[in-house]
Amino acid sequence: MTTTRELQNCIDDMVDERRGILAADESAPTIARRFASIGVESNEEARRQYRSLLLSTEGLGDAISGIILFEETLTQKSDSGQLLPELAWANKIVPGVKVDKGLGPLPGAPGDKITFGLDGLADRLESYKQAGARFAKWRELYPITHHNPSTLGVRANAEMLARYAAQCQALGIVPIVEPEVLMDGDHDIDRCAQVTERVLRNVFSALSRHKVTLELMILKPNMVLSGSTCSPQAGTEEVAERTLQVLQRTVPAAVPSINFLSGGMSPEQATENLNTINQHSAPWQLSISYGRALQQPALQAWKGSPDNASACQAALLKRAQLNSLARQGKYSADME
Ligand code: 13P
Repeated sequence: MTTTRELQNCIDDMVDERRGILAADESAPTIARRFASIGVESNEEARRQYRSLLLSTEGLGDAISGIILFEETLTQKSDSGQLLPELAWANKIVPGVKVDKGLGPLPGAPGDKITFGLDGLADRLESYKQAGARFAKWRELYPITHHNPSTLGVRANAEMLARYAAQCQALGIVPIVEPEVLMDGDHDIDRCAQVTERVLRNVFSALSRHKVTLELMILKPNMVLSGSTCSPQAGTEEVAERTLQVLQRTVPAAVPSINFLSGGMSPEQATENLNTINQHSAPWQLSISYGRALQQPALQAWKGSPDNASACQAALLKRAQLNSLARQGKYSADME
């Protein structure tokens, strides 16, 4: 099969009008923090149990079309001995993998960050593909302060995302391009809109320079929100309008799907905002690639005990189904 055909098949299997992506790719330190919040120690077996529980949720494939896995999960098996990427696909969920190697400071741009992992990326992508991954994810992160992100930070991060995306497409792996403008801070929604617009403009300019085929990638941005400690907070209609305005100014209509991250919004807020966004018209599919906003209630229900397995799966399924409705603009808060 040609790489273009592989990429198009993956897009076709992941993008539709009802479903979204589950981000279950927390790195070792992040999953350790999530587990600590429910009093569970993070070790390989606990991570295997939890993630195979998520993946074996019956009916999940009706609301979720793709799952982002952490590298370790690609070679783990369910209790019945099935490799987790195979279990995902048996439920109509395309397996993918986070391929960036975390982040650190960007020299020359105090306060900005840069993500690592381009060295050896082609070899790693080949081995992830062998293990069943059909798409990849790479996140660049942009904190907002009075001085950040700087011009250098915005350009350097865009370049990383574009080099990653071009490398993925060359090997027949669909890139999810994730520029995350953080919601931490007391800035207002105008500042978030201004920064997100600048970030996305630079990302699409870099993607074009690196000859990334826009039809064969997925964008995973933040919504345009008030900073988490800003008061008052913008309401859902303003969030939807400002988010769509920024996207319309910066994202070509050739991109098939925009799948938002949840970034620290509560599960209910993330669903409500998606619903309001989908009540407007737009040239792309507008869906989710939520981590916390899908998993938080499931994690709370699980608490590390096999006795809570069905409560954990029910909590995940509920959020996935409500987001599927929100995806179609058919959610209302009284369904909670
Ligand atoms: P959140 O939805 O929890 O922000 O996670 C999405 C993700 O994949 C971050 O890289």
